[in-house]
Amino acid sequence: MKILLIGGGGREHAIAEGIKKSKHNPSLYALMAKKNPGIAALCEDFLLEKETEVVKIVEYAKARNIEMAFVGPEAPLAAGVADALWEAGIPVVGPRKACAVIEFDKAWARNFMKKYGIEGCPAYEVFTDEVPAHAFIEKLGDVAVKPSGLTGGKGVKVMGDQLPDLKAAREYTSELLEKGSVVIEERFIGEEFTLQAFVDGKNLAFFPAVQDHKRAYEGDLGPNTGGMGSYTDAGEILPFMLSEDLEKAKKIMQHTVTALYEETGTGYQGILYGQFILTASGPKVVEFNARFGDPEAMNVIPLIETDFVEIMSAVVKGTLESLPVKFSRKATVCKYAVPAGYPDNPEKDSEVVVGDIGEASVYYASVYEKEGRIYTTGSRAVAVVGCAETIEAAEKIAQNALENIRGKLFFRKDIGTVGLIQRRIDHMKEIRG
Ligand code: GLY
Repeated sequence: MKILLIGGGGREHAIAEGIKKSKHNPSLYALMAKKNPGIAALCEDFLLEKETEVVKIVEYAKARNIEMAFVGPEAPLAAGVADALWEAGIPVVGPRKACAVIEFDKAWARNFMKKYGIEGCPAYEVFTDEVPAHAFIEKLGDVAVKPSGLTGGKGVKVMGDQLPDLKAAREYTSELLEKGSVVIEERFIGEEFTLQAFVDGKNLAFFPAVQDHKRAYEGDLGPNTGGMGSYTDAGEILPFMLSEDLEKAKKIMQHTVTALYEETGTGYQGILYGQFILTASGPKVVEFNARFGDPEAMNVIPLIETDFVEIMSAVVKGTLESLPVKFSRKATVCKYAVPAGYPDNPEKDSEVVVGDIGEASVYYASVYEKEGRIYTTGSRAVAVVGCAETIEAAEKIAQNALENIRGKLFFRKDIGTVGLIQRRIDHMKEIRG
């Protein structure tokens, strides 16, 4: 089978590896903006092109007789790449635009949750004018402010975090309103976790829960990033969760998929990503994304024991119900090495040398290859993943590997350490009283 992968980051490197591990021996083709050395090494052929160039992507897929595609990032989904490939007769893992809207229009997503009574929706309103928006901020008193459009997860600001007070929340709202509509919502307090699932239009196959770390520096300090690293435990839940928390989150995702079909008349086929906060009253939805998380994909894809290409086929045919998707019961820790100065003033075009990574896996992200050498682009560069019986052991594997990745880079030593996990557990205990 010939499979086309769209996207060229760390997440897509993990997807490429998943596809290539299939016993069906698929031929992999890739479309990426820059040459990711990890993906390139796994491909028969690749095209360097913008991932939103719908016409060129379809032309390339037809020219290579592609039989199935996987769309990694959100931008091509928002551009309608999945729709165009389906129209060309190529089944796609990655939702059509009508359903992917759940990620790229935050106002739509909240209105949709409200309309269908999906649990975990905060008090919120959508605004286009400053005066009522400011009044709503005062009324709620503690808010999250979200631009309505696709921002790669980077435009959301929260009080007690990036917004020190109500004045800052009002000012940020006014700034966003100059560009479009804004969602103001109640701020949730708790521990974040990510729940991802393969979805075939109706049925969901859930991955183990993951916790990402958005802040750039140790101790959850510094500016927000795309995610500096993440971990899973050796089961479905995280150490600060109860099984019932996970069950509630799963129900919310199942309800969302059913409601998406009712609302759009289109089955959601792809990866659904639920970003939750576990609060004193259970899991609440921060947002939904229409693709794997990055770095979360790198935690969970290596754990899949079921054949990846068979899962992809079940997603596009709507037959997930009859394919048990199994995972190995191991803990994982993923850590990103990022350019010095990231995210505000990153070192670009700086060489990265990957030495002996021991037992860890390595995933190339925002780097490019030139004359056999690897260079940074300005975003997260290289991720390493440790996989072991416990989080502690997985962390050591990842940490040892990072010590042998050289360049003008830094990473968070604390992700997955006993101390940080204990802080999460203590925080949740305090919240639950
Ligand atoms: N890790 C956050 C995201 O992928 O949106």
